[in-house]
Amino acid sequence: MAGMLSKRADRALETTDFLGSYLLQALGNAYNPIDNPKGIVNLGTVENKTCEDLWIKKIGELAPLIADKMSLYYCNFSGFEFLRRNIGTFLARKLDLPKPLDPQEIVLQDGVTGILNAAALAIGDEGDTILCVTPSFGRFRNDIEDVAGVRFYEVPMFEERDKGDAAEFHLNVIEKYYRKAIDEGHNVRGLILCNPQNPTGKVYSKQEVGTLLKFCARKKIHILVDEIFALSCHEKTKFTSVLQCDIPDPSRTHFMWGFSKDLSLSGFRCGMLYSKNARLINHLRKSSAYGTISAPTQIMLNAIISDTEWLDRVYLPTYRKRLQENLEFIRGWLKRHSIPFYCGSAGGFIWVNLTKFLPKKTYEEELALFERLLKGGLYICPGKEMFSPYPGWFRITFSVQKDRLAEGLRRIENKILSTWL
Ligand SMILES: Cc1ncc(COP(=O)(O)O)c(C=O)c1O
Repeated sequence: MAGMLSKRADRALETTDFLGSYLLQALGNAYNPIDNPKGIVNLGTVENKTCEDLWIKKIGELAPLIADKMSLYYCNFSGFEFLRRNIGTFLARKLDLPKPLDPQEIVLQDGVTGILNAAALAIGDEGDTILCVTPSFGRFRNDIEDVAGVRFYEVPMFEERDKGDAAEFHLNVIEKYYRKAIDEGHNVRGLILCNPQNPTGKVYSKQEVGTLLKFCARKKIHILVDEIFALSCHEKTKFTSVLQCDIPDPSRTHFMWGFSKDLSLSGFRCGMLYSKNARLINHLRKSSAYGTISAPTQIMLNAIISDTEWLDRVYLPTYRKRLQENLEFIRGWLKRHSIPFYCGSAGGFIWVNLTKFLPKKTYEEELALFERLLKGGLYICPGKEMFSPYPGWFRITFSVQKDRLAEGLRRIENKILSTWL
């Protein structure tokens, strides 16, 4: 009943909660070839399940480390200094930065989700606006709206007729939507850039990122750059981090990364924000009391991030090899079935055009197709949840175990291809 709770709670309850409804169904009845063969195959959530064997072994080896007094008590809420230092060193090495990131400029919380929520609270007042190039990761909207009450403003970059690059970057589109937002009375405080982009896998070039940095500096708005897939690029892709660019407005440029994607550890819950803005960092440190990563988790993560030999020689090459194999498998399958798709250069997901299977090009029909697939035992993510400006697009995650991927695609064959005239 509206009014019983705060206006904030009512507002948060009104925003779509796709995860809370359909995803929980998929998780609650997860497919397993032995115990639950009729369960739901999840090719909707972006997780990396290609290296479970390596991680289970590694975590088993590291588990004794948490039998330490440090695990028992309160720790620095925004992350142990040694963990922040080691993450800063790891990222500098992987992103080709001239020197390690300063641990004093890093804050850790329990996921990029929490960090973005905290950053939105810090840079926008209730009713202010943050722009986001769309299609984009659907939760961005919840992350800035639910608690902070900061409005999410879509900048649709995706032109359906532009089959060559479904995510091509156009500064004039950003300028146009910035102007439109201002004309509509929005107080624009920032822009979210996800690079590599989810759901398209687009990798923005150094030049594109530089152009956006200059745009945000000119407008005096913050830019929050989420590089959570920075180490998940496909073969031969050159990725340039925002931290390698000339940054015209360092106090309004903030970098985010986490363990959930590149390192497969979404269950560990750890995300970071790095910024030269000391006031923002201090604010996030205070808010870390509400999103602290447990001490045992931090101890484990520290052991992982410091094990450069294992990460460089075992985990990362295996991950990239398996990602590539799965990508080739799904690309081959899509081509064989004449299903158009856009595949960027990173991430374990592909942006697939199922428009031809919709009786009418509407979001209702997109949802109906999604529900038909779910009933048939397959969960994939509909484009509307990622602000696709056109109905009929879906994101399919392929960074899963090979048998799950094959089974999921078989269910598309059974549920739509076999009945499609
Ligand atoms: C682009 C992007 N950012 C952030 C997140 C959330 O990350 P975390 O698990 O660190 O909260 C996701 C998860 O899918 C994502 O795709």
